[in-house]
Amino acid sequence: MALNHELLAEKMDLKSQINIEKLPRHIAIIMDGNGRWAKQHGKPRVFGHRNGVTAVRETTEAAAELGVEYLTLYAFSTENWNRPKLEVSALMRLLVETLHKEIDTLNKNDIRLQAIGDLSKLPEKTRQALLAGIENTKNNSRMTLVLALNYSAKWEIMEASRRLARQVQAGTLSPDDIDEATFAAALNTGGMPDPELLIRTSGENRLSNFLLWQIAYAELYFTPVFWPDFRKEHLYKAIIDFQKRERRFGKISEQVAP
Ligand code: IPE
Ligand code: IPE
Ligand code: MG
Repeated sequence: MALNHELLAEKMDLKSQINIEKLPRHIAIIMDGNGRWAKQHGKPRVFGHRNGVTAVRETTEAAAELGVEYLTLYAFSTENWNRPKLEVSALMRLLVETLHKEIDTLNKNDIRLQAIGDLSKLPEKTRQALLAGIENTKNNSRMTLVLALNYSAKWEIMEASRRLARQVQAGTLSPDDIDEATFAAALNTGGMPDPELLIRTSGENRLSNFLLWQIAYAELYFTPVFWPDFRKEHLYKAIIDFQKRERRFGKISEQVAP
């Protein structure tokens, strides 16, 4: 019990160190390390994915409680289709199950669900569960939870280019009018602010084809914690670290210091 109290006190203390006025509006997370976590526990990889759901729940709740506007979670990359068939199908089933289970909680917490990625290539049941979740939560406004599914940043950028090229071909857009704003609007994330903080768990220091355009100026935060162990306090720590950084955007320190 004493230990529980200490942990709770530590969590509250971390939370109180966060400056609510300077929260990142959008946090993106590469949820990694489920397989290694399972291996550590002597279990099959899918056990890690199942336990990753707890981390998703905790992180979503923590972000919404703080007042973060957008939370984007990388759940399945286009490259992940190359995993063993059984793991892919288990992941797709887990998604359906989790979506069905969590929609009520999302509604209770006033959280809107959205998705980015090539959803047309998802198994029909997964796609339907996802679309139903998006539809059922579309009027919620506290936070937007974005799932990146069958997502590839390079694919997204090519898609945006194709979309704009078609408009040029149709004569509704002039090539000279393609600027950063037009291009950003043509991406899957059109209308969302760019993530200011990108977190990757499990100690890997790479982007794995995630949000390449949108994170041009994001602060990157890498933690060795495996995703199934990620809890509210880990999110708090990442935000505290983010708030200590000086974001210069090409300027010099004296120009941006308060
Ligand atoms: C992240 O954990 C989940 C997905 C990519 C779906 P991994 O399954 O990549 O776990 P590791 O990296 O093998 O430990
Ligand atoms: C990135 O993790 C994709 C997701 C978290 C969904 P991976 O585990 O697939 O990335 P790599 O293969 O280590 O780069
Ligand atoms: Mg991995």
